[in-house]
Amino acid sequence: MNAKIIGTGCQLPAYAADNHYLSTLVETSDEWITERTGIRMRHLAQKETTTSLSVDAAGKALASAGMQASDIDLLIVATITADTETPSTACRVQAEIGAVNAVAFDINAACSGFLYALHIADAFIKSGVYKNALLIGAETLSKLVDWTDRGTCVLFGDGAGAVVLTASKQGGVLSQSVGSNGSKWEVLSCAARPVRNPVCQSKEVPGYLRMDGQEVFKFAVKTVPLCIEDALEKAGLQPEEITHYLLHQANKRIIQTVAKRLKQPEERFPMNIDQCANTSAASLPILLAQMDTQGRLHPGDKLVLSGFGAGLTWGACVLEW
Ligand code: UT7
Repeated sequence: MNAKIIGTGCQLPAYAADNHYLSTLVETSDEWITERTGIRMRHLAQKETTTSLSVDAAGKALASAGMQASDIDLLIVATITADTETPSTACRVQAEIGAVNAVAFDINAACSGFLYALHIADAFIKSGVYKNALLIGAETLSKLVDWTDRGTCVLFGDGAGAVVLTASKQGGVLSQSVGSNGSKWEVLSCAARPVRNPVCQSKEVPGYLRMDGQEVFKFAVKTVPLCIEDALEKAGLQPEEITHYLLHQANKRIIQTVAKRLKQPEERFPMNIDQCANTSAASLPILLAQMDTQGRLHPGDKLVLSGFGAGLTWGACVLEW
């Protein structure tokens, strides 16, 4: 049995900030941001939370799958921006949607989080442990961003995307290639709360996102083509047999470079980075849900999904729609 996506949904915060607005906060310009990244807008949470965005995306995914929340037996939320340190976002989503029969937990693999969640769910579904999974990628990254750091604050946005997976004899996930390199953790990180207890009063302040952008860029354009090629080989497919390559939406130039390295036309690499910016674990399921709603995905289409980010982490998945 393969894990097959049978429903998608996404939710973006109502408020969208354009590049001109950011140029009132830090020394930047619409021209710089658009040219270097492809980003024009990003959605920022006001009333929305990681949980509320997840709940709304999940509701749409369940409706498009024609399933009830009680049909779900595995619920995973990929996020680095949970609303509570504990419990997990997944448990709070479970309560709100009534997924009473699900085991629910979060995973943290940063921008590769959705790919990792797919990896886990596919293994559980293949082995017969679970049948129906709800996977959500959700972030309110705006709360981790240092709004005085122009090197990062222009890049990120908030949002959530969800998919429903079910066990299927045909199509679905055909292969995966997933990896991590913890020795490079410092190139993209965000410190947690400092230790303050009766025997230690750390002077450190809670951290914000810090990134060596060029290091992450170099890592992405080198590793993503390799892991996509590995996943394609495992699936027994050639690059030209893929209908769409959905890459984590971090930078338009990264996506264009990967397309060149795979010798595939850029039109096969759909993008929404201009409107959504980098939503970390949410970026792939948001893009997938938008394409699904637009009627751009057809039965039999072969898709590649690929994510990369902090950890360092990366992954690619080949699936048949
Ligand atoms: O989700 C996965 C994690 N993130 C990524 O994948 C991000 C990967 N990296 C990138 O996308 C790019 O490295 C960035 C978009 C972050 C930066 O682009 P870059 O072409 O690598 O620029 P840079 O860091 O080399 O900076 C070039 C110049 C610098 O000025 P000087 O030193 O040349 O005078 C920066 O200070 O651009 C300056 N700069 C800015 N200028 C205007 C940096 N940020 C900005 C800004 N507006 N927002």
